[in-house]
Amino acid sequence: MGIAMVMIGFLFVLVLLCSALLRWNEMRYNKTNLPPGTMGWPIFGETTEFLKQGPDFMRNQRLRYGSFFKSHLLGCPTLVSMDTEINRYILKNESKGLVPGYPQSMLDILGTCNMAAVHGSSHRLMRGSLLSLISSTMMRDHILPKVDYFMRSYLGQWSELENVDIQDKSKNMAFLSSLSQIAGNLRKPLVEEFKNEFFKLVVGTLSVPIDLPGTNYRCGIQARKNIDRLLSELMQERKDSGETFTDMLGYLMKKDDNRYPLTDEEIRDQVVTILYSGYETVSTTSMMALKYLHDHPKALEELRREHLAIRERKRPDEPLDLEDVKSMKFTRAVIFETSRLATIVNGVLRKTTRDLEINGYLIPKGWRIYVYTREINYDTNLYKDPLIFNPWRWMVSISWSHKTHVLCLEVGQGFALERN
Ligand code: HEM
Repeated sequence: MGIAMVMIGFLFVLVLLCSALLRWNEMRYNKTNLPPGTMGWPIFGETTEFLKQGPDFMRNQRLRYGSFFKSHLLGCPTLVSMDTEINRYILKNESKGLVPGYPQSMLDILGTCNMAAVHGSSHRLMRGSLLSLISSTMMRDHILPKVDYFMRSYLGQWSELENVDIQDKSKNMAFLSSLSQIAGNLRKPLVEEFKNEFFKLVVGTLSVPIDLPGTNYRCGIQARKNIDRLLSELMQERKDSGETFTDMLGYLMKKDDNRYPLTDEEIRDQVVTILYSGYETVSTTSMMALKYLHDHPKALEELRREHLAIRERKRPDEPLDLEDVKSMKFTRAVIFETSRLATIVNGVLRKTTRDLEINGYLIPKGWRIYVYTREINYDTNLYKDPLIFNPWRWMVSISWSHKTHVLCLEVGQGFALERN
C-alpha cells in the first residue's frame, strides 16, 4: 500500500512537471503575433512526433490549426505552410529574406560550402560547377554510358539471388551508381568503407543536433570527418599520380580551363552534396516504381514493350544513348507518376533572415518555414482519382511546360536544377 502511494505521488509530480515544462515552452513563443500551433518540449520540440507520424502529423496539426501553423522541428522553431498562395510567395521571395533553411544538423554535416548552406555568389559558383558536371554533353559522353554499364553489372547479380530485398537493393544502387560517377576506379574495400560512413552521415543529418556520445548527430559528424579523410587521401593520390581522370571528381579537380575552380574543401562538400541529394530521392523513386509496376501488370507490360522495341534496334551489348532515353515516353510517365503518388519530396525548407510579415503574422528572424507541398499531389482538382497509379495520365498531349509546371508545384523549386 505504502509503495503504491509513493508511486502514485511520483507519477502525479511527474505529470505536473511535464505539463509545467510544456506550458513554459509554449509561453516562450507566445510573445509575438505568431500563427497558432504547439511547440512541444524544450529543445526537442515536436521532432519525435514529426519523424514518427510523418504526413499524419501534418494532417492532424492542419485539422487543429489550419494551413499555416507553428511547431518546433529538428531543433528549430518552424512554421509549416500548406497554403498554395503562401507557398508560392515564400518560394519566389528569396530577396525579401526567405533563403534556403535546412536544419542545423544537415548544414553541420553536409559542410559549410554545400549548396543548401551558401547564398549569393558562392551559391552561383557551386551551382554552376554542378551544372557543368551534368550538361547534355557530359550526360551523353560520360554519365549515361557509365549508368548503363553500372546497371548491367548490378542487375546481372540479381539472377543468382533467391529473394531480392528491393529497399536494400535500391539504396545500394543509388549510392553505388552515384559513387561510380564521382570516382570510377575505387577499390572494393574503399567503396565499402565509404558506404558505411555515408549511411551514418545520412542518419545524422536527420537528427536533433545534440553533440553527445552515442547520438546520431555525433555519429553523423564523425562519419563526415571520416569521409573527408577518405576524399582527401583520394585527391592527394590523384594529384601525385599526375594522371587525368574523366569522372566527376576528375572534372572538379581540373585546374586548367575550368570555369568553376573550387578549393579542396569546396570539392569535398560538392561530392557529399551530389551523393546526398541523389541518394534518398533516387532510391525511393526506384523502389516505389518497382512496387507500383509489380502491382500493375498492364503498366509493366507497356514499359517492357517500350524497352524491348529499343533493344531490338541495337546489338546485344550496345549501350543506350541519349536518343534512346529521350524516346522512352512511357518510362518517363512511370517516373512522373511514381514521383507524384509516392511523393518523394514532401516539401522544401526556408529560413527568415530578418523579421517578416506573412499573411498578417509577424515571423521572427531565424525561424524555419517548411513549405509543405505533399498534399498537391493528391488534389482532385489536378488529378482524377489521385490515389490510383495511372502513368497514362502523363501520356495525354499536354505541353511540356504544363508537365513541368505540375512537377514544380509538386517539389517546389527542385526541378529548376534538372530543368536547367
Ligand atoms: C527523384 C529525384 C529528385 C528529386 C525528387 C529532387 C528534388 C529536389 C528538390 C525538391 C529540390 C529543392 C530544394 C530547395 O529548393 O530547397 C532539389 C534541389 C537540388 N537537387 Fe534534386 N532531386 C532529385 C534528384 C537529384 C539528384 C540525382 C541530384 C544530384 C546531382 C540532385 C541535386 C540537387 C541539388 C544540388 C539541389 C540544390 C539546387 C540549388 O540549391 O540550386 N537532385 N531537388
